[in-house]
Amino acid sequence: MSTPRIRRALTHVGGKIETGGDRKAAALLAAALDVPSNEGDDSDPARAHVHGFHAYPARMHPLTARRLVEQLAAPGQRVLDPFCGSGTVIVEARLAGRASAGTDLNPLAIKLARRKITPLGPEEAERILAASQTIRQKADERRIARAGATRRLADRDVALFPPHVLLELDSLRAGIEELTDPADAVAKDALYLVLSSLFIKVSQKKSDTSEDAAPRRIAAGYTAKLFFRKTEELVARLGEYAKQLPASPLPARVELDDATKLATVETASIDAIVTSPPYANTYDYLAHHTVRLRWLGLDDRRLERGELGAKRRYAKMHPDAAEEAWIAELTAFLRAAARVMKAGAPLVMLIGDSAVGSRALRADQLVARAAESTKLVPLARATQRRPHFHGPTARAFSEIPRGEHALMLQRS
Ligand SMILES: C[S@@+](CC[C@H](N)C(=O)[O-])C[C@H]1O[C@@H](n2cnc3c(N)ncnc32)[C@H](O)[C@@H]1O
Repeated sequence: MSTPRIRRALTHVGGKIETGGDRKAAALLAAALDVPSNEGDDSDPARAHVHGFHAYPARMHPLTARRLVEQLAAPGQRVLDPFCGSGTVIVEARLAGRASAGTDLNPLAIKLARRKITPLGPEEAERILAASQTIRQKADERRIARAGATRRLADRDVALFPPHVLLELDSLRAGIEELTDPADAVAKDALYLVLSSLFIKVSQKKSDTSEDAAPRRIAAGYTAKLFFRKTEELVARLGEYAKQLPASPLPARVELDDATKLATVETASIDAIVTSPPYANTYDYLAHHTVRLRWLGLDDRRLERGELGAKRRYAKMHPDAAEEAWIAELTAFLRAAARVMKAGAPLVMLIGDSAVGSRALRADQLVARAAESTKLVPLARATQRRPHFHGPTARAFSEIPRGEHALMLQRS
């Protein structure tokens, strides 16, 4: 029996919790963070139904999302996640009978979150499976006929995938592109996500967020077989999710939008915000998803320009400039959030400390500073210590260890 691979994509998991600020609010935050850390197989809530379909860096733990949604918004009220990523908060809000909205600047996140929150009709499920089977067969035929690639393959892909895998991926993509019948629109979208979910599994890379090589021996035909298996998995996971949804789920909307603008969200329309922004100088979502964005033909220009905290920019900054920039980005987000929130509404954000050079960027302190010029007032926090793995910035946390925080602010 194979041992399930341990997934490290979830943040905010495990360890002693310290709290500060309003006691009731802090206790609520601490309870939300107190989730099991034994990630791995499908019995794990973190991988239940649609949550387990597709990797995404720094996903929120679904139990944390669920507890926050239930505690902060009454049934029927509207919850927003302005950095919705793979859609964890929106998935849980729908299950909990709350109306919801999600925004993100990563078009892959939007596609993925929309797919996860939308149950399939029986006909749609049939069409997806039938299309996947046909595409797999065609890919097998092309492999057996030793057909070449359907287009010029990018040098990056040649470095990332073994040649036979790359040819199978190319055939699968060509098959998806051939789905031009409007009746196959849902299938086409779903199968692009299935293709996207395969990339790391058949690449020579360890994970989305690691540049470490992980050479894998992949048999001929395996990639196309996995494509069909993952399609069956997606349909089954969506079926499980649909069974758990209330009979008439409340509206959920996911839009490509910048969290510092929230142009798609009406003023004073939100009862609670539950979110997890990027951490400064920690990830680079554009780089992590560049292969997927390119293979799915998604336009990454807004993410390129507007991604908050992106390592590609912060790593080059002087610590003073980085701190200024981070406060400015957090302020812009909090201002936009305050505009869309109703008076008195809570905002909870899960956010970690980070570092530039030997300077720690303490997220709880910098969020409090950013809030000063907005209509949001810091109310409480719960903090867990986290190891810091990045050697060059290790000194930043030599005295006070790195923390990850659940911060609650309230709209005045
Ligand atoms: C920590 S992840 C969120 C993960 C999400 N909670 C989940 O469970 O999948 C942060 C997200 O912020 C998004 N992001 C970065 N800058 C943004 C911006 N200016 N506006 C909206 N989203 C942004 C990234 O694309 C990424 O999906």
